Amino acid sequence: MLDRPARSTPFDETQLARIIADHGSREGALLPILHDAMAEFGWIDDAMVPPIAEALNLSRAEVHGVLTFYHDFRRAPAGRTVVKLCAAEACQAAGGRSLVGRAEERLGTPMGTTDGEGAVTLEPVYCLGLCSMAPAAMVDGRIHGRLTPERLDAVLSEAVR
Ligand code: FES
Repeated sequence: MLDRPARSTPFDETQLARIIADHGSREGALLPILHDAMAEFGWIDDAMVPPIAEALNLSRAEVHGVLTFYHDFRRAPAGRTVVKLCAAEACQAAGGRSLVGRAEERLGTPMGTTDGEGAVTLEPVYCLGLCSMAPAAMVDGRIHGRLTPERLDAVLSEAVR
């Protein structure tokens, strides 16, 4: 799910209704609706859950369960810059784990959060398809491979000024 808007935007009922209508109420429509909502708004507001549940004849708990199961559904607006560090196996084996603390310190926000000023979001991603160049990261949609702590510092300095 890499086709997100550059910025997270507020939930808009009319746009969400259009997304729901595009998929209808057929079985299996939940994930496509959530993906489209992510692409449209950049995050899934809790306020989106009731209308989606109602349209698909699901309980709110069912929709919420799917939302929390998949890491890729962002539940709060993203910062102006989004840094994704790969937390999947190949990157972990290649030293990705040590980059987490480095990024947290450098960006001043723990993994999975956005800093207080909304400047940057740091979050894990589970494989960028760049395993041969592990450890890898994506910064505002741009991929960076073979990261060392020093290279990560340089990438972050460039991205968050
Ligand atoms: S495991 Fe990190 S890019 Fe595949």
